[in-house]
Amino acid sequence: MVDPEIGPAVSCDGVVMSNEPVSSGLVRLDLELDQPLSFQPGQFAMLNLAGADPLVFSRPFSIFKADGRRMSFLYRIVGRGTRAMGALVPGDAMTFLGPLGRPFPQPETDQPVVLIAGGVGLPPLAAWLARRSDHPGLEIQAFFGARDGADVPWDLLDDRWDVSVDSLKDVPDGRRAWKGLVTDLAATSKDLQDGRNRMVLACGPTPLLKAAARFAEARGWGCWLSLEEHMGCGYGVCKGCVVPVLDPDKGPEARRNATCCQEGPVFNAELLAWKRPHRSQ
Ligand SMILES: Cc1cc2nc3c(=O)[nH]c(=O)nc-3n(C[C@H](O)[C@H](O)[C@H](O)COP(=O)(O)OP(=O)(O)OC[C@H]3O[C@@H](n4cnc5c(N)ncnc54)[C@H](O)[C@@H]3O)c2cc1C
Ligand code: FES
Repeated sequence: MVDPEIGPAVSCDGVVMSNEPVSSGLVRLDLELDQPLSFQPGQFAMLNLAGADPLVFSRPFSIFKADGRRMSFLYRIVGRGTRAMGALVPGDAMTFLGPLGRPFPQPETDQPVVLIAGGVGLPPLAAWLARRSDHPGLEIQAFFGARDGADVPWDLLDDRWDVSVDSLKDVPDGRRAWKGLVTDLAATSKDLQDGRNRMVLACGPTPLLKAAARFAEARGWGCWLSLEEHMGCGYGVCKGCVVPVLDPDKGPEARRNATCCQEGPVFNAELLAWKRPHRSQ
């Protein structure tokens, strides 16, 4: 079922315009698609190589930017598919299916927002922040965590982002980074100590998501998390991406499986069953 507020997904071809590292671990891929497309921050696309040797399954990537027919992604090379993507050069062809999934929500009127991104969790939250120029009064604190200074895509982060690193190695002169977990950086931020009710949006590896959920829960704040499950199809057919969620309509202990690609990838942390271990009867 297509959410009426979200445009339908489109399957089309794309041509690589550029595919260059933006840090030691992150690569920016710019595609020129067959047609102009818009997206909501948090939505993703299924990408594949075109031509003689496509991957059996397309791979999901959050959309970082879109401008007319140009669409950009940030990715980390972790396995066969992303390794093959890393070898693409301008002019190479790819296939694209998207935009898919449910985006991050908008805040209630002027409710302040906290963004917590780790590594490849940056694209959807950077996209969310970029859209806020149409909402200038909104107070936003943004935190980004990386492995070390070389892993931070400094040129993509404006001064609204506070940066944390596991190691202070390779932090460039003139740049500021805090050593420790990004959720600890948020927890110690003086800007967040004024007692106001905030909304937390987070994307990154599962330990970061769990820490962000605990951070929000401890303060009684709402929290939305973008999950990175393994995906086969991206549109609800293969059931390869199911996550257990609470089913409050059926009772406080009831659970069901939700497809991350359709009902997510952004979920209200309150509904994620991993937040509350299942009690044996
Ligand atoms: C909604 C969504 C948005 C995503 N956005 C981005 C993004 O913007 N940038 C980015 O770099 N990656 C993103 N990912 C993760 C990306 O899809 C995987 O890194 C990619 O599919 C790995 O493909 P591969 O063939 O290189 O690795 P594989 O050979 O398939 O796997 C290599 C290693 O990566 C792990 N892995 C594979 N898929 C995932 C996954 N989905 N999540 C976590 N670990 C995985 C495997 O367990 C294995 O350890 C996103 C995933 C989802 C579901
Ligand atoms: S990826 Fe196939 S159902 Fe979600």
